[in-house]
Amino acid sequence: MSSHDDSYLSAGTGRPWWADAVVYQVYPRSFADSDGDGTGDLNGLRERLPYLASLGVDAIWLTPFYPSPLVDGGYDVSDYTDVDPRFGTLGGFDAIVATARKHGIRVIVDLVPNHCSSEHPLFKQALAAGPGSAEREMFIFREGRGPDGAKPPNNWPSNFGGSAWTRVSDGQWYLHLFDSGQPDWNWRNPKVAAMFEDIIRFWLDRGVAGLRVDVAHGIFKDPDLADAPTTVRSVVPSGYYHRPETRELYRTWRAILDSYPADVFPGPRTAVGEVWYDTYDTLRPYLAPDGLPQVFNFELVTAEWDAAGIRAAIDATLSLSGGSRAPWVIGNHDVVRPVTRWGSDAARAAALLLLALPGSAYIYQGEELGLPEVLDIPDAARQDPAFRRTKGKIRGRDGCRVPLPWESGGASFGFSRTDRGDSPAAPWLPQPAGWGEFSVETELEDLDSFLRMYQTALRLRREHPALGAGAMRWLNTAGGALVFARDPGFVFAANLAAAPLRLPPHQEVILASGPLRENGSLPRDTAVWLQV
Ligand code: NOJ
Repeated sequence: MSSHDDSYLSAGTGRPWWADAVVYQVYPRSFADSDGDGTGDLNGLRERLPYLASLGVDAIWLTPFYPSPLVDGGYDVSDYTDVDPRFGTLGGFDAIVATARKHGIRVIVDLVPNHCSSEHPLFKQALAAGPGSAEREMFIFREGRGPDGAKPPNNWPSNFGGSAWTRVSDGQWYLHLFDSGQPDWNWRNPKVAAMFEDIIRFWLDRGVAGLRVDVAHGIFKDPDLADAPTTVRSVVPSGYYHRPETRELYRTWRAILDSYPADVFPGPRTAVGEVWYDTYDTLRPYLAPDGLPQVFNFELVTAEWDAAGIRAAIDATLSLSGGSRAPWVIGNHDVVRPVTRWGSDAARAAALLLLALPGSAYIYQGEELGLPEVLDIPDAARQDPAFRRTKGKIRGRDGCRVPLPWESGGASFGFSRTDRGDSPAAPWLPQPAGWGEFSVETELEDLDSFLRMYQTALRLRREHPALGAGAMRWLNTAGGALVFARDPGFVFAANLAAAPLRLPPHQEVILASGPLRENGSLPRDTAVWLQV
């Protein structure tokens, strides 16, 4: 594709740049710490942009860096148009956009429209103004049930455990689908919609190429707030998820995105919705032509490592829209890392699958290093509100958010800079003792490392005429085989079964996730890219 140049369409195809982009997800708090306080920051990211350029990504998506009490890692926003001092400044953000651009890398920011932080000034004003006020109308406040209103207004569950309602001192309750520190906005109030239009424009005006839309299946709530059929949290359409009103909202956002000039860098703006769905019928409406340009497909996140299941998921996704509008992912900051879900060999093979499928692919930081989930974080160090709210029943997502190892040794494995005199504070989440083995430094020295494989895959993906947004066709649908062709001249093959797999006729193995057998067949949990 067209990365590393200034063109706004994929080379010669007439498709928008995002149609086959490889996007790298940065969790700023855990990426690189430039000031030694143990928390990653925007300067740290800017200093490491050459690393992302050498990896070969087209864009970066930054999870929230806005002012926030960090009750939910920044998804509790107290100011949508600024940078938390712990992460840097707006000037520092602009420097990232400018430096990234020099590398041909676009920047996508996170938009969190379902809820804010209970520290947001508008929520504080709502609390102060009391029941019945216009200020409360910005949020979803209700009287409780029962004789003294002591029971929540309905039975909706919080995603992080417990009820989705919290009572305030005057007796009313407010809705929060996540932590009590994350009150839900009332999207039936036009002031909320107007405020978010301004926020979207604020970031687009600063040069961002797109938005990742948090909980894009939430946002509108059933006006009657009727009880759900179950208190078990679920992603089936309900009073709180997949409301049809979101479609009209996304049409208005699409119009804003399309109002920005597409013929200069960063090109047509995108927005990619985070939509968790139960069935393809639930996902389909989000892919309406005038809706958000893109919506994640989480098929490879939820899939077992099983060829038939993965084949079916790929077919279903491609028939819905293609991977361009529904980008592929194998992990993110909310799920157990692929190496731990499937095993290291399978995760390497899955990476080659991810990058060979038609359309766009997202890589979560550390995936390219083959980082495992950290399973033994001490309880006292855990930060995820889900851990706290369920009293440890849900271990939470800290294990995939441990700060990255850049160097083989030293304090914090190079995550925090140590050349500022003082020794750095401990990283905000503890790194395991063996973390240096997965460091960028160590992996660059090892030709067989995860990192080297990702670098080669991304280079080949840019160079090979068959890779990008075009079609694919299955060649072998037997047993544990995943074998498909892309034209011209490319075949992907993976073996998920115990018995070795004979490779189809080919000119050359251009990339392998692991060693082949002596007779050239493919061992279990191994994938290859073939020139045919
Ligand atoms: C999805 C985000 O990815 C996750 O980290 C967050 O906790 C919830 N949305 C709530 O914002």
